[in-house]
Amino acid sequence: MSEALLEIRGLTVGFDVPGGRLPAVAGIDLTLGKGEILALVGESGSGKSALSMSLVGLNRGPRTHIGGEVLFGGRDLVGAGEKELREVRGKDIAVVFQDALAALNPTQRVGDQVAEMIRTHRRISKRNASKRAEELLGEVGIANPGQAARAYPHQLSGGMRQRVMIAIGLANDPAVLIADEPTTALDVTIQAQVLRLLKRLQRDHGTTIVLITHDLGVVAEVADRVAVMYAGRIIEQGTRDEVLFDPQHPYTMGLLSSVPRVDGPAVSRLPAIAGSPLTGVARPDGCAFAPRCTFVHEACQKQTPPLQRRYAGEAHLDACVLDEAGRARARGALEEVAQ
Ligand SMILES: Nc1ncnc2c1ncn2[C@@H]1O[C@H](COP(=O)(O)OP(=O)(O)OP(=O)(O)O)[C@@H](O)[C@H]1O
Ligand SMILES: [Mg+2]
Repeated sequence: MSEALLEIRGLTVGFDVPGGRLPAVAGIDLTLGKGEILALVGESGSGKSALSMSLVGLNRGPRTHIGGEVLFGGRDLVGAGEKELREVRGKDIAVVFQDALAALNPTQRVGDQVAEMIRTHRRISKRNASKRAEELLGEVGIANPGQAARAYPHQLSGGMRQRVMIAIGLANDPAVLIADEPTTALDVTIQAQVLRLLKRLQRDHGTTIVLITHDLGVVAEVADRVAVMYAGRIIEQGTRDEVLFDPQHPYTMGLLSSVPRVDGPAVSRLPAIAGSPLTGVARPDGCAFAPRCTFVHEACQKQTPPLQRRYAGEAHLDACVLDEAGRARARGALEEVAQ
């Protein structure tokens, strides 16, 4: 991996809910390299959004408890004050959400919204900011940026709005762009265009991108590295090829086993694995996936297996106590099911 840009250490996010504190993020260590695209995958509720929002304190509040460290440019963003964070947000680390319609201001022209983001972080005249906003709309692939700039969000298509969100994210040429399901609401053609755009950003601007997705097809297409989340933890992590072609954790194997191969039809949503993930406040000892795992044995229930290198390549980590023979059996069994 290239030079470290952002280092997440022991990150936890707990939400106070009726009945206790929900451990949405239960201790994550992750380093983002400069210019890489990291895909964060996992079922609904695994903590992907809670993790990404906590990086820049977007989910801070009286009922949210964020712990651990997020080191960026020599400072810790978890401990940073709101004023300091406001500077980081949008300027150094930008977040693009899935639901562009909800994130945009319905009463303001989109060009003005992009320009405003530029002016929040830079001393630049209104006129120049508007000019730059139009340029940005062009850069994200909007065919008639002048016209789009004057439109209100509801006058644009879903794909256009998503591009506007990305333009806002890029307004200040951030070092890190966190894109939370940026293509989910879009049809396949537009989705491919947005992904190509992210890839281009990485190439031309060296932007580090965290791409949150349910879609393993998206992962295969654009990711350099993959982190698989389950119940608030990363249970497997490695290069794209390591995770997709040599999965180590039965959960990852399960996700992949029902995805058709490249020559099959393009079905790529995360397939259902029998049972449902832990979502309550109580987290019994042991591996969180154990209740759903076909290959569970006694050791799985004793303690939470740490994420570490076990039987695969140097940077390929997993949190499963199965030994090498057990993994081979698991892989074999799942391949059989897939046929
Ligand atoms: N503000 C909140 N208050 C209480 N619980 C929350 C809050 N936000 C998220 N949660 C809970 O935290 C857990 C993780 O949620 P999160 O939104 O991070 O999941 P996700 O992986 O992004 O899921 P999805 O794929 O559906 O977007 C879930 O159990 C969710 O219900
Ligand atoms: Mg989410």
